[in-house]
Amino acid sequence: MFRGLNFPQPTCPPAPHVKEEFAVPSHVEEVKESMAAFAGHHAASGRRVVLITSGGTKVPLESRTVRFLDNFSSGRRGASSAEYFIESGYAVIFLHRHRSLYPYTHMFATINMLDALKFTNEGASSNSPEVVVNQQVLPNIAKVLKQYQKVKESKLLLPIEFSTLSDYLHLLKAAAQALSTIGSKAMFYLAAAVSDFYIPASEMPEHKIQSSNGPLQLSMNMVPKILSPLVKDWAPQAFVISFKLETDATILLEKAQRALETYRHQAVVANVLDSRRGYVVVVTPKSQDELILTEDDERNEVEIEDRIVSNLTSAHTKFITQQRS
Ligand code: PMT
Repeated sequence: MFRGLNFPQPTCPPAPHVKEEFAVPSHVEEVKESMAAFAGHHAASGRRVVLITSGGTKVPLESRTVRFLDNFSSGRRGASSAEYFIESGYAVIFLHRHRSLYPYTHMFATINMLDALKFTNEGASSNSPEVVVNQQVLPNIAKVLKQYQKVKESKLLLPIEFSTLSDYLHLLKAAAQALSTIGSKAMFYLAAAVSDFYIPASEMPEHKIQSSNGPLQLSMNMVPKILSPLVKDWAPQAFVISFKLETDATILLEKAQRALETYRHQAVVANVLDSRRGYVVVVTPKSQDELILTEDDERNEVEIEDRIVSNLTSAHTKFITQQRS
């Protein structure tokens, strides 16, 4: 059941037999081909391609999984960023957690669908009632629907789902290999919140853990940082952005810089849990750009992802030019 992710040794405590411990999703080869075809098609017409990871990974505690460890991420950053990348001319592979927020629908995520619909006057008393959108609940729906349909027609968005940490690791590796053919035109925007811990399959109980056995004590292995083989081996010419999330703001920038030194990729988007919607720092080996939403921006519903994407697409342009010269 467990087959070949050839991870290098992690820098933190080693995870023995790591390559055998992550189940390969059955559709990985098929997905890899569709990602390669998508990237090849868009790159041939001069478009850049960004792979966005979004949402949190799920780590099972039992083989026949009843319980699992999850990550908090809603997927809003990834979903919203996908829209801005498309607006900036990119084609987007959206590798996201099943049922996390999705481009174009994410702004309606808190709305109950039935509240957003109503009968026409004539429909209410008819046997085959006619249902229309309640414009008071969804005032922007026509605009968003137009954008969504245009993106669908031009096939600018390729959605791929993951649920578990294993799915995520294998699909990201497949994506990196698929995008390696387009070199520096590829960007990796790794916004997913990925678990750092997992229970190896060989140590996982098959059946539901019984509370009658008393308090639960868990020992979890370290997940290898996938950034390392991604940058060094799988997509060495690509423009790679990782994210760094902390709850303690005082260690954030140092951790972001350390990530750059360790993995030698192009930038880290550093954010603190509580302020992540309004403040991030884009850290590169030579700069630290603070991106801040003002009260005015917030009133005008400006999203921080607009600023992040604008910053990174400019940096990607410079990167491509430097690679050519
Ligand atoms: O989804 P939202 O609710 O909108 O929230 C957005 C966000 C806060 C999740 C996002 O902005 C963010 O910060 N994502 C990264 C969260 C994180 O926990 O990163 P990390 O410190 O665990 O990992 C750092 C980087 O290493 C990440 O880019 C990750 O993709 C990468 N990583 C992580 C684990 C692993 N095994 N291999 C990796 O390569």
